[in-house]
Amino acid sequence: MSDPEIIEQTIAFAKETLQGAEGGHDWFHIQRVFKNSLLIAKEENVDVLVVGLGALLHDIADAKFNSGDESVGPKLAQQFLAELKVDPKIVDHVVKIIENISFKNSLESQQGQKFDSLELQVVQDADRLDALGAIGIARAFNYGGFKNRELYNPDIAPNLKMTKEEYKKSKAPTLNHFYEKLLLLKDKMNTKTGKKLAERRHQFMLDYLEEFYKEWDPLVATTP
Ligand code: ADP
Ligand code: NI
Repeated sequence: MSDPEIIEQTIAFAKETLQGAEGGHDWFHIQRVFKNSLLIAKEENVDVLVVGLGALLHDIADAKFNSGDESVGPKLAQQFLAELKVDPKIVDHVVKIIENISFKNSLESQQGQKFDSLELQVVQDADRLDALGAIGIARAFNYGGFKNRELYNPDIAPNLKMTKEEYKKSKAPTLNHFYEKLLLLKDKMNTKTGKKLAERRHQFMLDYLEEFYKEWDPLVATTP
């Protein structure tokens, strides 16, 4: 099977598997990550098939919505690609990307990193970009709504010291997520193109927050 055929089959598989997925992790998230991955890959010396497959399959079974079992996604991807008779070396690399992308995304990413490659870094940058800017804001409030969280609460300060477990359980308002995660992402980007794209989206979020506080309390109208 040719590379474009493999990609085409994988697109169909991802679309079908993600039917009914929640708005932050649906097919369109995958499509955006796929496109941004290809955009970043243009400037990097990477295997474009690995990048494309990694992007298309990176959230194929997001652990958060699979009772926390992080092996479901990699297994599903492995089976699917093996059936297509994709070169085992490529399958292996793609599976490693899926296993490591959310791990590397976590707040504890500094410790115990297992695997790294330029292809992983490209897909990870593209995934992070989708958590930033206008789309990132939409996804954050969508997630907060899904978890029944407050939009903002001036009495609950952001907490940058939470462990990953505490963070998952926390009922903090969605606006805190900007300080706990989203505004920190631009400094974690791996590639030059990723950094440049993140910079613009970061600034957009800062502008958004300024406007948010002004509208929240028009009598005070100062950014905390
Ligand atoms: P991905 O799997 O796409 O890398 P996550 O699963 O960590 O990203 O999060 C999916 C989306 O939900 C992101 O846009 C992220 O910002 C948002 N999100 C995750 N946790 C929270 C939270 N505690 N509050 C608000 N938004 C969140
Ligand atoms: Ni993702």
